[in-house]
Amino acid sequence: MRPGRASLLETGLAPLSIDVSKPPVDPIALFAPPVTAAWLEIGFGGGEHLAAQAEARPDIGFIGCEPFINGVARLLSDIDGRGLDNIRLHADDARDLLDVLPESSISRCFILFPDPWPKLRHNNRRFVSPQNLDAVAHVLADGAELRLASDHMEYIRWMLFHVLRHDAFEWRCEGPEDWRRPPADAKPTRYEQKALSRGDPCVYLRFRRKDRESACGT
Ligand SMILES: C[S@@+](CC[C@H](N)C(=O)[O-])C[C@H]1O[C@@H](n2cnc3c(N)ncnc32)[C@H](O)[C@@H]1O
Repeated sequence: MRPGRASLLETGLAPLSIDVSKPPVDPIALFAPPVTAAWLEIGFGGGEHLAAQAEARPDIGFIGCEPFINGVARLLSDIDGRGLDNIRLHADDARDLLDVLPESSISRCFILFPDPWPKLRHNNRRFVSPQNLDAVAHVLADGAELRLASDHMEYIRWMLFHVLRHDAFEWRCEGPEDWRRPPADAKPTRYEQKALSRGDPCVYLRFRRKDRESACGT
């Protein structure tokens, strides 16, 4: 790791970190005005997408989860360079944060190009799983959006299978362009750019968190 990034980790991470032992009653309270909603990115990698979203939407508070410390350091450098003050971090497993975030407290969740774990015997390590979808559904507000993307077509099929059989989600899709192209306000991720530069197609999935009163038992 570059020396500058190592020192940013030492000084810059703690003030932005969410203490999961003292979870926020309302994640919006982690941020200063004009933030009116909290969005979550799980597995932000180097944080390219998170920083670009945060810069484009100063009215949103962004919470990023990523255990890969070099990626966290890269994002801290971006936060510092761009002067962003609407990002908070959990530099660890997103599941620990999902467990303590209040119900209905998140208005959008991104899980972009998650590790595909292609070997059959490793499929159970995939982040998109019934258990993790329960946790995501719990923290998402009614009408909130879950955005998934991947260039790994077998994982896309897996995502569709698991999200569509979950009571809390409905697919926002009216035609092929909705999954072939990124949403209009999307920002590129590093893995997406790598896939596109290899000529590999990417698939973009948007799901709506159903209203609790219309989704029996969720
Ligand atoms: C293939 S990379 C994609 C990174 C980024 N989203 C992109 O598109 O460039 C997947 C990332 O998910 C992170 N990850 C894996 N399991 C995670 C978990 N349980 N909680 C948070 N992040 C996780 C990994 O550390 C890795 O950085």
